[in-house]
Amino acid sequence: MAAKTLKVHAPAKINLSLRVVSVRADGYHELRTIFQSIALHDTLTIRAERGPFRFEADDPACPGDPTNLVWRAVEQVWAAAGRRGAVKGLAIRLTKRIPMQAGLGGGSSDGAAAIRAVGALLRVSPARQRAVAVSLGADVPYFLEGGTALGLGRGDRLYPLIDHPSSWVALVLPSFGVSTKDAFGWWDESGAGEPEGSEPGNDLQAPVAARHPEINRIAKALGRAGASYAAMSGSGSAVFGLFQRRVDAKRAAAEVAGRGRRTIVTRTVDRASYQRLVGLRAR
Ligand code: C5P
Repeated sequence: MAAKTLKVHAPAKINLSLRVVSVRADGYHELRTIFQSIALHDTLTIRAERGPFRFEADDPACPGDPTNLVWRAVEQVWAAAGRRGAVKGLAIRLTKRIPMQAGLGGGSSDGAAAIRAVGALLRVSPARQRAVAVSLGADVPYFLEGGTALGLGRGDRLYPLIDHPSSWVALVLPSFGVSTKDAFGWWDESGAGEPEGSEPGNDLQAPVAARHPEINRIAKALGRAGASYAAMSGSGSAVFGLFQRRVDAKRAAAEVAGRGRRTIVTRTVDRASYQRLVGLRAR
């Protein structure tokens, strides 16, 4: 492997809409969701280094062990490249900025970034990279594409959409996180049926807000602060509001902040910009 350091970005997503259509035989949920990339991102620094594979995350709350999707991605790409035995000759450092348990896809995007980068280093075909992504998690394939995309099935059958109009995004993070598994479990318990109509919305928001009323309080506050649309992202706990102007997103974030809430102002990223942003850059 060439003696290089690669830095790759792993951007977050929001769900502009997330409709839960049905429960599948495999326990997963059939979705109709619209993914949207945002500029907020983690960074993976990948170095060629002698010895066994090393992985570390700068955030102590983020597992730096084989349960991390980055680690699993690297192992699977290694096998897909036809290499035998344990991964070696590689070290990855993960710089976390995307909040965890927030419905922003941080872990999945980190996994996809590892697939792209290590896949390129080991010359693994895009088709094989995609197969690894599908096996890692429902959201991972989306992060190989980015931009505005419709996700069907588990969210892994993807159809690129015309880019959503460029918007500023006020993200509000409550003091608690939500596990994806729990959110879907709460949806099951709620006995909700198939969604009607084609309005955007998040079907996981009501069951999550039933346990955490703070979610709806934040969404309402963002609406009052002028958001053209406000909803929980994915399985939560992040709530986002969309704005045309940065100054309005900033003001809304300041208005809604406090009471243990953290805010981040970022913007949407279209497909072409996403592809540029995640491109491999040798140093
Ligand atoms: O695929 P991933 O590991 O990201 O999903 C985490 C959990 O979220 C799954 O174990 C499942 O409980 C739930 N899930 C679901 N339907 C989906 C996506 C995720 O039920 N379409």
